[in-house]
Amino acid sequence: MKHIIEEYGYKALQYASSRGVPELINNIVAFMYRMRGLKTLPENVLITAGSQQALDLITRLFVNPGEVVIVEEPSYILALHVLRLRGAKVVGVAIDRHGLRIDLLETTIKKLRREGEKIKLVYTMPLFQNPTGVSMSFERRKYLLELSEEHDLLIVEDDAYAFLGFDDSMIPALASEDQFGRVIYVSTFSKILSPGLRVGYLIAQEDVITKLSVVKQVIDLGSSTLSQLIAAKAIEKNVIERNIAYIRKLYRVKKDLMVEALDEMLPKGIWRSDPGGGFYVWVKLNRNIDTEDILNLSNKRGVLFTPGKRFCVNQVPCKDAMRLSFSNPPENSIRVGIQILGDILRCKVR
Ligand SMILES: Cc1ncc(COP(=O)(O)O)c(C=O)c1O
Repeated sequence: MKHIIEEYGYKALQYASSRGVPELINNIVAFMYRMRGLKTLPENVLITAGSQQALDLITRLFVNPGEVVIVEEPSYILALHVLRLRGAKVVGVAIDRHGLRIDLLETTIKKLRREGEKIKLVYTMPLFQNPTGVSMSFERRKYLLELSEEHDLLIVEDDAYAFLGFDDSMIPALASEDQFGRVIYVSTFSKILSPGLRVGYLIAQEDVITKLSVVKQVIDLGSSTLSQLIAAKAIEKNVIERNIAYIRKLYRVKKDLMVEALDEMLPKGIWRSDPGGGFYVWVKLNRNIDTEDILNLSNKRGVLFTPGKRFCVNQVPCKDAMRLSFSNPPENSIRVGIQILGDILRCKVR
């Protein structure tokens, strides 16, 4: 912050273009190519107040009340809320350990079309999905892009956790494989620098960016100039890439601690995801238990998680699931927390 004020003076405290400050946009273009294999141009980038705002802007532009948006089941809670607030008809399609079930997506699209529904968007998190941590296989990614062309659909790729893989491999963004111009790419600095800066971005066709920047201007006149310059500097000075290398290791250790504890301490017959990155493990109890009730008990003993129902359109199959987060708790409390959950569950499933 000090560097920014010294370098830019009052400019850092002024309004900027509602598309975003050029320093940040240019650095994102280079960063995207390096980190996500995504070739883009400054005119295809819009800076947003976190990726949450990107999701909101896209929804406002493309979705009218009553129109269909297809989401993964389970999906990111606050994306579901954005869609509901807009009055969208949200339809869930199941995921498995290879990501979104594209075969089911295809049947769902055909069925909706037969019923005369207008499908506006397909919202997906191809890498390290929130809440399950699973990623979409290469075959499914290809199939999804083909389907979007065949059925004239727009895909929203939310790439929030993509930088946080537990190994060093870089799986390129879905948008980098999109030859048809059907993917709107959304990402954020929240998970790799600081959520408090509220800086995210979206990458799309130029005409879409122009329309979205008008919507953004109406809403907030543009994101914080100071925050944007800080993010731009953090890219330029390699702060972000160094941080990514550091947090990947840190989260891997925490993830390992959590899954080991789950395998050891939870009752048998429970399914858990095997996240390749991100913040979360998804646990399915495979029993007639509502995890909201488990949360009431675990909360009293200092353990919090998010009950599965909250991530789902069709809540019944998600009732016995829970999202556990390993990113925030310190290493030495992860095992203790899982032990408490294990104790509670053993009493319930007996
Ligand atoms: C999948 C996903 N998308 C978007 C967001 C929004 O984050 P932000 O607005 O901080 O970029 C989050 C936050 O947790 C998220 O998990």
